[in-house]
Amino acid sequence: MSRKGLQEFEIDTKPSKKTSKQKFNDFFYNEDTGAILGRTPQSWAKILVFYTIFYAALIALFSICMVTFMQQFINPRVPRLQQDYGLIGTSPGLGFRPLPEDVRSTLIYYKGTGYDSYKYWENQLIDFLSVYKKKGQTAGAGQNIFNCDFRNPPPHGKVCDVDIRGWEPCIDENHFSFHKSSPCIFLKLNKIYGWRPEFYNDTANLPEAMPVDLQTHIRNITAFNRDYANMVWVSCHGETPADKENIGPVRYLPYPGFPGYFYPYENAEGYLSPLVAVHLERPRTGIVINIECRAWARNIKYDRRERLGVVHFELMIE
Ligand SMILES: *[C@@H]1O[C@H](CO)[C@@H](O)[C@H](O)[C@H]1NC(C)=O
Ligand SMILES: *[C@@H]1O[C@H](CO)[C@@H](O)[C@H](O)[C@H]1NC(C)=O
Repeated sequence: MSRKGLQEFEIDTKPSKKTSKQKFNDFFYNEDTGAILGRTPQSWAKILVFYTIFYAALIALFSICMVTFMQQFINPRVPRLQQDYGLIGTSPGLGFRPLPEDVRSTLIYYKGTGYDSYKYWENQLIDFLSVYKKKGQTAGAGQNIFNCDFRNPPPHGKVCDVDIRGWEPCIDENHFSFHKSSPCIFLKLNKIYGWRPEFYNDTANLPEAMPVDLQTHIRNITAFNRDYANMVWVSCHGETPADKENIGPVRYLPYPGFPGYFYPYENAEGYLSPLVAVHLERPRTGIVINIECRAWARNIKYDRRERLGVVHFELMIE
């Protein structure tokens, strides 16, 4: 503004006798200052620029938040943390069922053959196995079931059946054999997304630590059908020499291991972990038996202290 303009401005802003109607009109457009709605065009431009930048920054921040948040939902079937990054690590743990009421305990204890004495354990197993029983009725799960075989692994997105109905005597109609003092304990390997077992499938090269009866079984079953070798083998035994004697004969249903065609687990709809029912046929009664079950594959770590690849529980039947 020139010196002259400033003077004019000063003169113009001197209190003038304007009517309230004029003042009102001035608000919309002030001929003297050129202001529209109380602001000069320059001032309006500044505000426009300010808000454009302000909102752009806000939108950018919000977008970053949303992208980070949404990434977890892009494919809900693929966990973001895989394999080595997962908390469980690459080596799956082994678990047993039924579990004692007290989470710190690993003792399966019951007294006698009356229903009241073992109903807790039976109900635990019925509960645990219910998903295996009703899979046909749940939407999405039933139609995904593929007829798996060692030569016929399931195509991507299909799952293998775990048919627990034929596992006599380890069936609920038979109280999982608890009432006959020869209980069935179920074993399960923890699921790790994308984990592929490295099988002990070379009968000439089985680990020395593997129990002789399992080695014999592997040699026998693979002589009969080579494909059966691709299994995550399982063995259970008493811990001390006394326990080894007290545990009695052990049977594994349907196999002493988890068939290889169940792996890798890729979170397909209706996937069920394979199970092994361990039938303790004649455990000694009236004494605590320490039992250890181990899963066998080259890439399953074995550490008793860390409880890796091994599960421990005690059995006591009175
Ligand atoms: C043995 O297992 C490995 C995977 O651990 C597999 O690549 C190989 O084909 C298997 N061998 C036989 C003879 O099935
Ligand atoms: C070997 O397998 C055959 C047939 O599957 C079976 O009849 C036999 O009892 C098995 N022998 C041993 C020692 O497991």
